[in-house]
Amino acid sequence: MAYTKLTAEEAAALIKNGDTIGLSGFTAPGTPKFITEALGKRAEKEHAEGKELRVNLFTGASTSDHVDGILSRNNVINMRAPYQNTPDLRKRINSHDAHYMDRHLSEMAQEARYGFYGKFDWAIIEVTDIDEEGNAVLGTGLGNAPTYVKLADKILIEHNTELPKTLKGMHDIYLPLDPPYRSEIPIFHANDRIGSPILKIDPKKIVGVVETYSLDGVKAFTEPDEVSKHIGSNVVKFLLEQYRKGDIPKEFLPLQSGVGNVANAVLYDLGESKEIPPFMMYTEVIQDAVLELMKKGKCTFASTCSMTFSDATEEELFKNLDFFHDKILLRPAEISNNPEVIRRLGVIAMNTALEADIFGAINSTHVLGTKMMNGIGGSGDFTRNAYISIFSCPSVTKGGLISNIVPMVAHADHSEHSVDVLITDQGIADLRGKDPLQRAELIIDNCAHPDYRELLHDYLKLAEGKGQTPHTLQSAMAFHTEFEASGDMRNVKF
Ligand code: COA
Repeated sequence: MAYTKLTAEEAAALIKNGDTIGLSGFTAPGTPKFITEALGKRAEKEHAEGKELRVNLFTGASTSDHVDGILSRNNVINMRAPYQNTPDLRKRINSHDAHYMDRHLSEMAQEARYGFYGKFDWAIIEVTDIDEEGNAVLGTGLGNAPTYVKLADKILIEHNTELPKTLKGMHDIYLPLDPPYRSEIPIFHANDRIGSPILKIDPKKIVGVVETYSLDGVKAFTEPDEVSKHIGSNVVKFLLEQYRKGDIPKEFLPLQSGVGNVANAVLYDLGESKEIPPFMMYTEVIQDAVLELMKKGKCTFASTCSMTFSDATEEELFKNLDFFHDKILLRPAEISNNPEVIRRLGVIAMNTALEADIFGAINSTHVLGTKMMNGIGGSGDFTRNAYISIFSCPSVTKGGLISNIVPMVAHADHSEHSVDVLITDQGIADLRGKDPLQRAELIIDNCAHPDYRELLHDYLKLAEGKGQTPHTLQSAMAFHTEFEASGDMRNVKF
């Protein structure tokens, strides 16, 4: 079946006000680039003419400026899920111009299939190749593409000619059955293949194909600052101690690592360690550092949902695809982040917090308790099910005006029940085997910035005698209210 060729503008013109759209991809990689850009431009014109054009947008994770950026600037997004990290969309979410359902990434696809989010009008899918029977080779990020093509009434394809067709074989497309028919997901090692390298799309649903030509446009990493370096070396120190003690088996365990400079710094440091043996990753995103680790033989395999490489690293990957081809496997988000598999494999999870409280609860999402930053992403999928769950953050932010260790988090994403270890630039608090008071002492003494230790101890004294997890509810938010009042948490008085 020959597909209709469309320009991005022609494709965008087919989308109606109120439509629900599922996009392929996970972070920028694998996400459509041209049709959403054209939709944003169309909305700019139509909104100026007083016409309404707003859509519901479901993805695998965050996207790029070609999607969330331009669509938010033009106020096209009505409902958005499950994750975003774009400044323009953040503004729309916090001003309630856009609705946002911040969901665990592993749950998005199944909830869409369960029908919780209504009918999907469109799926827009980036491919490197597609034949006339609808056999598609996806791009560098997968996300929830298999579910969205299944659910959508109509499909638009972005055929990205910048991506090599030889990516074929790097995807492992697998859709679990839904309850009550679901059985185990048969991944017993991070590198087990359980599905198909091809995404089967019903060719009758394909309304048109748009030719595109663009790399994913991920920015290169900056050299980590001193604080990130301290955090990174504390994480590596902790992992080494655990390995020497035998708490991590001699074969080592698969790693999950969040995104950003700290995560990249940790992986580079791990690569330098002679003691840590070559390891695998079972994670949702791999960044530039992983490719370096593979070249050194330190990372032998990465199961991921996306190759979030900077353009330079992406070009290197494409040039040397023979070497990397059997070392990386791209899975749908519900498999890369699957709680059953994460627990079975014993994944060591490393995620970043905005703030932590003295008992170990984590706020990953809401700045000062109310303003959405990005979303929970995959952090909950991994944290709750990890062999060891590590959270890290700088001890202070905004030059010390804000302590990232507070009496009580102003928004709780991960409770203290799921957090095993907290690490800051100051040190390590291993919370395993400790009761709430013991945890509080460790977190204050090892992780809080020296400027805040006494204040946090004062708070704990104030709460003395108030039960197993002592809090003084009148003062639990004193750090936050002080920041609102004077702009400096150090002015708190108990
Ligand atoms: N209170 C108020 N503001 C805070 C804060 C706190 N306790 N901690 C950080 N901030 C501010 C920073 O100052 C910065 O502000 P700016 O944008 O004005 O500079 C902003 O929040 C981001 O902080 P930064 O330290 O640069 O964050 P990061 O890039 O290390 O990301 C998270 C941290 C938590 C936002 C990020 O890891 C995230 O979105 N996590 C949730 C998703 C996730 O964990 N996915 C895991 C699998 S990939």
